[in-house]
Amino acid sequence: MAKRISLTRYLVEQQRVDGLIPGQLRLLLEVVARACKSISHAVNKGALGGVLGSADSENVQGEIQKKLDIIANEVLIEANEWGGHLAAMASEEMDGIYVVPNRYPQGEYLLLFDPLDGSSNIDVNVSIGTIFSVLKKPEGDRGVEAGDFLQAGHQQVAAGYCVYGPQTTLVLTVGDGVAMFTLDREQGSFILTQENVRIPEDTKEFAINMSNMRHWDAPIKRYVDECLQGVEGPRGKNFNMRWVASMVADVHRILTRGGIFMYPWDKREPNKPGKLRLMYEANPMGWLVEQAGGAATNGKQRILDIQPGQLHERVSVILGSKNEVERVTSYHSEL
Ligand code: AHG
Ligand code: MN
Ligand code: MN
Repeated sequence: MAKRISLTRYLVEQQRVDGLIPGQLRLLLEVVARACKSISHAVNKGALGGVLGSADSENVQGEIQKKLDIIANEVLIEANEWGGHLAAMASEEMDGIYVVPNRYPQGEYLLLFDPLDGSSNIDVNVSIGTIFSVLKKPEGDRGVEAGDFLQAGHQQVAAGYCVYGPQTTLVLTVGDGVAMFTLDREQGSFILTQENVRIPEDTKEFAINMSNMRHWDAPIKRYVDECLQGVEGPRGKNFNMRWVASMVADVHRILTRGGIFMYPWDKREPNKPGKLRLMYEANPMGWLVEQAGGAATNGKQRILDIQPGQLHERVSVILGSKNEVERVTSYHSEL
């Protein structure tokens, strides 16, 4: 029988054999995985667990929160605050940072998360997920503060997501490629099901919310228009379109079979650089995609090189198959 490698064993090997991750980071990732398991159980209960519907509250970004946004946020905080591996956390669903209470030891890592991605899909039983990013707290004896989180994406030491779909799959990078783990519900553990994930450099599949077409900027219009022209157009091939409206699910498809995902700036809210959040969505997904051989830009620069100015900063996102992302990015510089 083929050897089954659990997430625990994979992480121990990353720590001991390859020396890639320190013990505290291994613990942190185990704890995040455990929290995701617990969120997965809540998601699976659905209406039976009373977890569907809205919570009658708004987050800092003015979005109505769903019950599961709040539940997932609480699960992640409760799981992570006492282990001694973290200094603080930041979440899409919290106004400010959450400093580990001083009754617990403080560790050297910072954890950022989008506790529940794809909120509009919760009540309709479509794949949703959790996205996370890990940074190191800057050296020094002073207490942790919000500014410590404002590090460019290339400083991440771990990133990943868990998609709650037909299967629950945890996808992870610690800078040594991308690995996927499927939740074995009988055993209660994540089992390694794919290593060295690679995104094909070319694709015939794009993902964008087409209903925003009239608001797009010229380079995005040009790219999508050329795809839509199919074999008769300049690309000389037919394209397919997918849009799940959960970034986790769209990125998971791209890591599995290639494709390009775009959530560009558009004219609806001209003062916002985009809809997606740099720290909780674009950075972790951008790093995963790069680690799998793909690319991620905001149309002008590499996502991972953007210096964040604030915690809840938004950004345009173009990521996936390398040659397509480079093409869209080059259209931006031709203007
Ligand atoms: P969240 O549920 O965390 O707010 O994120 C939803 C995001 C992202 O997952 C998805 O790609 C996008 O919003 C969908 O937006 P539209 O509804 O505008 O298509
Ligand atoms: Mn999200
Ligand atoms: Mn969310």
